[in-house]
Amino acid sequence: MKQFKACVIGVGFIGAAHIEALRRLGNVDVVALSDVVDPEAKAAAHGVPKGYEDYREMIDREKPDVVHICTPNVDHYEMAMYAMGRDIAVVCEKPMTKTVDEAKRLADFAKQKGIVTGVNFNYRMYPQIMQAKAMVDSGEVGDIYTIHGGYLQDWLFYETDYSWRLEPEISGESRAFADIGSHWIDAVEFISGLRAVEVFADFETFHKVRKKPLKAIDTYSGMTLRPEDYEEKHIDTEDYCTVLFKFDSGARGTCTISQVFAGRKNQMLVDIGGSRCALHWDSERSNELWIGRRDTFNQTATKDPSTLSPLAGSIISYPGGHAEGFPDSFKQNFKAIYAAVEKGDTGQNLFATFEDGLREMQLCDAIVRSAKEGRWVPVEG
Ligand SMILES: NC(=O)c1ccc[n+]([C@@H]2O[C@H](COP(=O)([O-])OP(=O)(O)OC[C@H]3O[C@@H](n4cnc5c(N)ncnc54)[C@H](O)[C@@H]3O)[C@@H](O)[C@H]2O)c1
Repeated sequence: MKQFKACVIGVGFIGAAHIEALRRLGNVDVVALSDVVDPEAKAAAHGVPKGYEDYREMIDREKPDVVHICTPNVDHYEMAMYAMGRDIAVVCEKPMTKTVDEAKRLADFAKQKGIVTGVNFNYRMYPQIMQAKAMVDSGEVGDIYTIHGGYLQDWLFYETDYSWRLEPEISGESRAFADIGSHWIDAVEFISGLRAVEVFADFETFHKVRKKPLKAIDTYSGMTLRPEDYEEKHIDTEDYCTVLFKFDSGARGTCTISQVFAGRKNQMLVDIGGSRCALHWDSERSNELWIGRRDTFNQTATKDPSTLSPLAGSIISYPGGHAEGFPDSFKQNFKAIYAAVEKGDTGQNLFATFEDGLREMQLCDAIVRSAKEGRWVPVEG
């Protein structure tokens, strides 16, 4: 097995998860990180040999095999282009870019250069999601009638909750759908093999004005700010959306996405109604897959490589009864991507590529247009 050199750009919440997951692979050395805030301190805190402020300098000096892009969305395009311009494989966080045009240019450039790319749609790599895919692929679910579910969070519940994700110049035109709905639709198309061809979306922004802190506050610091410590910001990206989908097979779907739903910290739900059985998955009980049947009792398939399909078993590291979840999905995604990098395999794989990142941006674009125009909108691509 090849020993890889990796560099990570942006080490906030998710960059740290990338570093940890890469270390678990055993054949990847994270040789450097880059961040515009305290790069050296972050490198020391994560046990990474070097911290750079400028990602270009890091790439040019370290010459890594793979670059991981974990910064806010606005910079993904430029960073991915820079790495691919030097024939370096790229793993990019979702959403892949801010616009469809940027996504197209990245996907085209990767294809033209023959570079292996990955987008971190990590939900694909939960064993019970893979089991659902195996059951659809084998015909066990039958023809799909309906797909529903969604993604709920509460970290933007209060008007005083603030993040770069609320600023479209940094995040993009859609917020809730692009940020978390993108995971839902990627997982649904991955499991079902169907493609959404038309969408009808309804958006709402409940906090039309939010209070942006004028000074940095550490998450969970419990620090109380006074009125003069805030600036009022007008918000025009969605806190919530519901989307109706028509799929290419004639199946119908709907999802509800909210970042202001109290008590749900990070819950993705996928429900698939087929002509033979139904499936239900809840990320808050991620080691279980419910199978609903009309003529006999229902079942719960638990995460156990000795009883699940070989496909699901292929992304399980521990025996039954030993829970695997969010960090493990990163490990499995990177394992698959690095295996493709080693083989130079730019073909169809289980992980999401820049083509899938583009697909999600096209879906998101149609959803934003539908919400604005109040009508069904066809999905490009
Ligand atoms: N796959 C997932 O489940 C998942 C979960 C969370 C976030 N994300 C995605 O990951 C990305 C980052 O999100 P986050 O929650 O980690 O954000 P964050 O704000 O916690 O961290 C971003 C980091 O990037 C750094 N940064 C900003 N500009 C930079 C630049 N030009 N060069 C180097 N560093 C820079 C910031 O200083 C910060 O440390 C986003 O695209 C987000 O959508 C994905």
